[in-house]
Amino acid sequence: MTSSSPFRAAPKAGLFRASGLPKIAWGKGLTLVDSEGREYLDGSAGPAVYAIGHGNEEVNAAIKDQLDRIAHAYRYTFTSDPLEELQAIIAERCGGGLSQSVIVAGGSEAVESCLKIALQFQSAIGASSRRRFISRERSWHGNTLGALSVSGFAQRRAPFEGALIESSRLSPVNAYRPPEGVAPEQVAEHGAAELEAEILRLGPERVCAFIFEPVVGAAGGCVPAPPGYAKRVREVCDRHGVLMIADEVMCGCGRTGVWRALEEDGVEPDIMAIAKGLGGGYLPLGAAVFHERLAEAILASYGEVLTGHTFVGHTAACAAGVAVQRIVARDRLVEKVAADAPYLRAALQKALGDHPNCGDIRGRGFFLGIEAVADRETKEPFDPALQVFLRLREQAFENGLICYPAGGNVDGVRGDHAILAPPFIATRAELDEIVGRFATSFRQVMASL
Ligand SMILES: Cc1ncc(COP(=O)(O)O)c(C=O)c1O
Repeated sequence: MTSSSPFRAAPKAGLFRASGLPKIAWGKGLTLVDSEGREYLDGSAGPAVYAIGHGNEEVNAAIKDQLDRIAHAYRYTFTSDPLEELQAIIAERCGGGLSQSVIVAGGSEAVESCLKIALQFQSAIGASSRRRFISRERSWHGNTLGALSVSGFAQRRAPFEGALIESSRLSPVNAYRPPEGVAPEQVAEHGAAELEAEILRLGPERVCAFIFEPVVGAAGGCVPAPPGYAKRVREVCDRHGVLMIADEVMCGCGRTGVWRALEEDGVEPDIMAIAKGLGGGYLPLGAAVFHERLAEAILASYGEVLTGHTFVGHTAACAAGVAVQRIVARDRLVEKVAADAPYLRAALQKALGDHPNCGDIRGRGFFLGIEAVADRETKEPFDPALQVFLRLREQAFENGLICYPAGGNVDGVRGDHAILAPPFIATRAELDEIVGRFATSFRQVMASL
């Protein structure tokens, strides 16, 4: 859900023509064209989804081929080649013990399944008092009630408070905005210590799992886990029998230059949610991936993982995911992201690094966040009433660029950032164009304030 949601009331005049969102006509590669013939360059793969760009004919042909055979065979009646192949691809890309997966239709459903797999595992091993989830503020895990309950995005939670599952939310782990009295280089240690303190406060026998985004997406603006943080979290979780759930819905599937974002941290979670880049937006797709150790315990006690939905393992969606992932592997696109990431970052740094309102440029791979501030020295954010992130979004759009801005990254209300997350296939010329249009838009907005 973003500010452009058609379900949102019309913003003040000038800010995003709510009654008149452009109507999409078609897309190819990084180019989208609306029904009036206007072109847009996709600098953020929409909401970090379109990993191989739009209109890929191989993927379209694979989907059509599957539709010609059968669109959907109910998972609890049949298995299928695309389902088995997708599960094998995920297991192979993840490596280690992460060989098990439930294929679902998106990120929220993936997170929801991860939470339930964690609960079911704890029950399976006789630890059914472990019901509590711990997560972090300034995180986004999805819009279903369970996923929303562990999300730290105040504005999106507000209308549902009181009905959400009780959970604990820790401080964000952000080296640019460390908690009061904590030095940036101590943020990793502080974050892990805070987790341990909360587990001990609750009583370890009550804690089921800790869920976090290895690189925080929409709620933070591409905030990477500081070096050493994930390893320390792993140790804390292991010490107290708490499961570690990595939400890689946005940062996973190659976006950060490795297939699993936590690979870079040298850490294997017990459970992991993936979605967006898995099927690249060709059909709705996600997965809850989990360690075989968990699967063995669950199967021994219950015989099956109890997270089923009608469209689990949807045949045509799996075929789309297989086709996308085959292309990603064949064309070495994750390696390409890793190779081109320093180029993208350097270009962005050169274009905006010295701008007085550019507070921070951060992220990993093709997943970069630019935080706008009123004062670079004090890191003071803009008055939220100015709706700077919405202005950025509108200005970029007028300049023919799709980027992904959001607000509230400082304290849930204040803070403006934009995400650039180009499709993996972007050429260097396209990366230059994205940075150029974004920097122009950024300067125009700042000059207008
Ligand atoms: C980290 C993260 N988790 C979960 C979700 C929810 O995914 P979906 O919108 O596909 O339900 C999102 C969506 O942006 C996300 O960024």
